[in-house]
Amino acid sequence: MATGVTVCVTGAAGYCASWLVKLLLSRGYAVHGTVRDLRDEKTAHLRRLDNADSNLKLFKADLLDYDAMATAISGCHRVFHVATPVPSEEITDPELQMLGPAVTGTTNVLKAASAANSKRVVVVSSMVAVEINPKDWPQGKIRDENCWSNIEFCRSNESWYPVAKIASEAAALEYGRKTGLDVLTLNPALVFGPLLQPTVNASSQFLIYFLKGGPDQVSDKLWHIVDVRDVADALLLLYETPGAAGRHICAPHFITARELLRLLKGMYPGYPYIAEESIYDMDHPAPMTSEKLEKLGWSYRPLKDTIADTVEFCREAGFLEDVDGDDAPCRFPPLFNKI
Ligand SMILES: NC(=O)c1ccc[n+]([C@@H]2O[C@H](COP(=O)([O-])OP(=O)(O)OC[C@H]3O[C@@H](n4cnc5c(N)ncnc54)[C@H](OP(=O)(O)O)[C@@H]3O)[C@@H](O)[C@H]2O)c1
Repeated sequence: MATGVTVCVTGAAGYCASWLVKLLLSRGYAVHGTVRDLRDEKTAHLRRLDNADSNLKLFKADLLDYDAMATAISGCHRVFHVATPVPSEEITDPELQMLGPAVTGTTNVLKAASAANSKRVVVVSSMVAVEINPKDWPQGKIRDENCWSNIEFCRSNESWYPVAKIASEAAALEYGRKTGLDVLTLNPALVFGPLLQPTVNASSQFLIYFLKGGPDQVSDKLWHIVDVRDVADALLLLYETPGAAGRHICAPHFITARELLRLLKGMYPGYPYIAEESIYDMDHPAPMTSEKLEKLGWSYRPLKDTIADTVEFCREAGFLEDVDGDDAPCRFPPLFNKI
């Protein structure tokens, strides 16, 4: 048990971060969690966690507010930087909605960690910083941590979420090289699994859309998938492993959209589902490997368990039902057709 060690988690009320906070509290860490909104609607799920009464302190802090972030990080031995906007809607102002919070926000967190003399910062990046149209990477070659998505390609395609994740991860690693702060990154795949927070985040909406169907097209991409509880384990492993360094792909499973649809229909017949014809073809380059993380001792759940736990959680939470009085169709978050 890590009694007496205080760590900071940014964006603590979000999907991945809530599971990380739960794990940290269960292991005896004291947690400073940053949130943008302290009201119960956003934070009650965190305050209800075991050990939260004694070991969780929440701070109101926007990523663009250096002083607020510095207050939350002050006294923290290490930092998990998880917060980034993951928009479910179309991005209309890339600087305001994505690039500012992601890139300037990450720099603010790193500067605050340096000022607090924190020993290590684990930054949550994404598969989107690894696998999108990489330069000089043969189609058939397995993608490892040396593979970087092509930021110019993403920018010309107006894929603002990937642009923000590539730029913020590169900036974080560069900051570590320049200042000597120990900065590590984790690159998770599409994250599924049960939710702790009360509202549906973008990657959960991905799976809900498959079950409920709607008017949008979906690319037959080779989707890499990881369980949210395995992401929390990976983050703690990176935190606790002395020699860990650099990037870490966290993408144990891969499946095309058509195969995922077939798998879901086989496990849970009876939902409306997206139409086969709404899935459009796409090339399938070689997959990514999580070997580096596995060599550190990381293990993960089987894909079918993750799918089952997600669908069953969403069914019990009522996320798969139509809401009375709301005729708006279920929508596929547009960012997933841009990655
Ligand atoms: N879910 C996935 O499939 C996936 C895959 C790969 C990587 N990731 C990465 O994992 C991290 C967490 O994502 P998630 O899926 O857990 O999404 P999420 O539930 O939407 O969480 C995002 C968090 O970021 C916070 N945030 C956004 N803008 C902020 C700002 N300006 N200042 C302070 N906090 C801000 C949000 O706060 P509010 O609650 O106040 O909005 C929220 O807590 C992100 O870095 C994301 O890029 C996610």
